Amino acid sequence: MTRQGELSAAVEAVLIDEDTLGRRIAELGAEISADYRGRDLLLVGVLKGAVFFVSDLMRSIDTPCEVDFMAISSYGSATDSSGVVRILKDLDLSVEGRNVLIVEDIVDSGLTLAYLVRMLRARLPASLEVCALLTKPARRTTDVECRYVGFEIPQRFVIGYGLDFAELYRNLPYVGILRDELAAQAEELP
Ligand code: IMP
Ligand code: MG
Repeated sequence: MTRQGELSAAVEAVLIDEDTLGRRIAELGAEISADYRGRDLLLVGVLKGAVFFVSDLMRSIDTPCEVDFMAISSYGSATDSSGVVRILKDLDLSVEGRNVLIVEDIVDSGLTLAYLVRMLRARLPASLEVCALLTKPARRTTDVECRYVGFEIPQRFVIGYGLDFAELYRNLPYVGILRDELAAQAEELP
């Protein structure tokens, strides 16, 4: 099997192809540029899942902006987060008085994001909004507001374009649905 074949063997179907991702991210960038024109903007990328998204999004924003990263890990099973979040890497920059836009890969239950929003809000930014590439509204258990959303997707485990299954498949250029056999394994991971 080729290397690319090995990767795509985990994919049941392509959910969002590269072109569709690119077009939607350009739209989000244009919207964000218009909303923040004349104001400072600090993008906060959530590692590792949002790396590709934040880099493509930032390049489609045409107003001055800065970027910083945060790495968090949520306790819980591989597919269900508990909402208790551990900070693995904190921001380098202060967010006090800044217009902060959290850039996330996917909002599932919303617990991780709700925690992150509470934590950053306590640091007194001038404004705090969220931009998520993907959201699974059917899985939401916490009410957390996302100002910008790329795509609403069904209740399936997805991989690619930064999203992983057991740290693999982030390098797929599209968002794909993980095959059922592997998804079943995900339920059992610690
Ligand atoms: P939440 O706290 O339930 O909203 O979980 C959000 C986090 O779980 C995301 O930041 C991802 O890291 C991970 N996650 C949730 N759904 C998926 C998925 O379908 N594929 C890959 N990671 C996911
Ligand atoms: Mg994540």
